[in-house]
Amino acid sequence: MANIFLTPKYICMGEGALGMSKNHMKKLGTKALIVTDPSMIKLNNVRKLTDVLDEIEIDYEIFSDVNCEPTNHMVDAGLTLYRSTGCNFLVGIGGGSPLDTMKAIGAVVGNGGDICEYMGRELTNPMPPNVCIPTTAGTGTEASKASVITNTKSNVKMLLNDPNLMTDLAIVDPEFTLTAPPSVTAATGIDALTHAIEAYISKKSFLLSDTYAVSAIKRIFSNLYEVYINGQNIHARNQMAVASLEAGISFTNSSVTLVHGMSRPIGALFHIPHGLSNAMLLCKCLEFVTPCVVDRLSNLAREIGVYQVGMSDMEAARAFVEEAKKLCKKLNIQTLAEYGIDRNEFFSAIDKMATDALASGSPGNTRIPPTKEDLIGIYKSLWE
Ligand SMILES: NC(=O)c1ccc[n+]([C@@H]2O[C@H](COP(=O)([O-])OP(=O)(O)OC[C@H]3O[C@@H](n4cnc5c(N)ncnc54)[C@H](O)[C@@H]3O)[C@@H](O)[C@H]2O)c1
Ligand SMILES: [Fe+2]
Repeated sequence: MANIFLTPKYICMGEGALGMSKNHMKKLGTKALIVTDPSMIKLNNVRKLTDVLDEIEIDYEIFSDVNCEPTNHMVDAGLTLYRSTGCNFLVGIGGGSPLDTMKAIGAVVGNGGDICEYMGRELTNPMPPNVCIPTTAGTGTEASKASVITNTKSNVKMLLNDPNLMTDLAIVDPEFTLTAPPSVTAATGIDALTHAIEAYISKKSFLLSDTYAVSAIKRIFSNLYEVYINGQNIHARNQMAVASLEAGISFTNSSVTLVHGMSRPIGALFHIPHGLSNAMLLCKCLEFVTPCVVDRLSNLAREIGVYQVGMSDMEAARAFVEEAKKLCKKLNIQTLAEYGIDRNEFFSAIDKMATDALASGSPGNTRIPPTKEDLIGIYKSLWE
């Protein structure tokens, strides 16, 4: 079977990437809408970008009303600014939230209508020219054909998934990630790990997506704890930035599966950061799927060096899951209770979450698709 493989048109990668991208950015348009969040302004990251735009004489407007878990309202507000100020291209700078908002604005600029109607829809037209500058490692949205926007009418995190959502220019400079605090570093790093593992065990995986997934998984096991305890280690930050990009490429060409399917409803209803809700679910979901992906998980055990001579494939697969558990423990990943979620409230939402998770389509990419009862069982097990 043949597969199409997507990547951003240009990737500018490494220390100093923003400065190096001037010539490419110049060609994208004459006035940019910069989509970002307030902390990117405080951290001076937006200033670094506007200095470059000033230098190449590109005009811009700044839309910074994005926070974690972007909503349809934020997309509408950004869209209004884009249209009313004569912008003709887009630059997202920040974590996944501003980048996803930028892509959603771009989708509606290109295709019209209301963002709330975009879940699962095929996009006929491209976004305007656009740039993604990630500051977390990360969501991989700089290399994905996805955007995740909360629909406040239905309380559902809508997954938009279409090749037209792939960016023209990804500027991946690890220097932007140096300021990420340990909790953000841990959660976003586990998000990237989850992308790569899910891409590798998905029924949609293929040789080239595997290449990127395995490489990302190895880098993350070698570097995530280091950047968690020593955020200023630029070499490890660079490894994580590459891993996040690789993980993004791997899942966008293969798919995410059960963890992401189950994580989005937790984000929509309980506003837990995306990476953290993935981290809470990752090992429970891996334990659940182990019997149908023993070969794949045992390969991963070999790749990260936890396979020992004489282990059966099942033992090796379990050793990989144990290693993921150890990493989450070292990163002090909180439980739902530690995060302050009310158990009764969570239990009364489980039915809706299981329904919404299945409706997103992601759990169906598991090699043996789980039932609603399976999902309910996993949600409940988060309290054991
Ligand atoms: N489109 C995709 O392919 C894709 C994939 C995974 C997740 N997502 C989505 O991405 C969103 C999460 O993105 P995220 O995890 O990157 O977090 P985020 O963008 O929500 O940022 C989390 C917090 O970290 C701060 N932050 C970001 N970078 C920083 C830095 N360098 N220094 C200091 N603070 C920094 C932000 O200001 C914010 O307060 C979720 O909505 C999730 O659903 C999208
Ligand atoms: Fe994710």
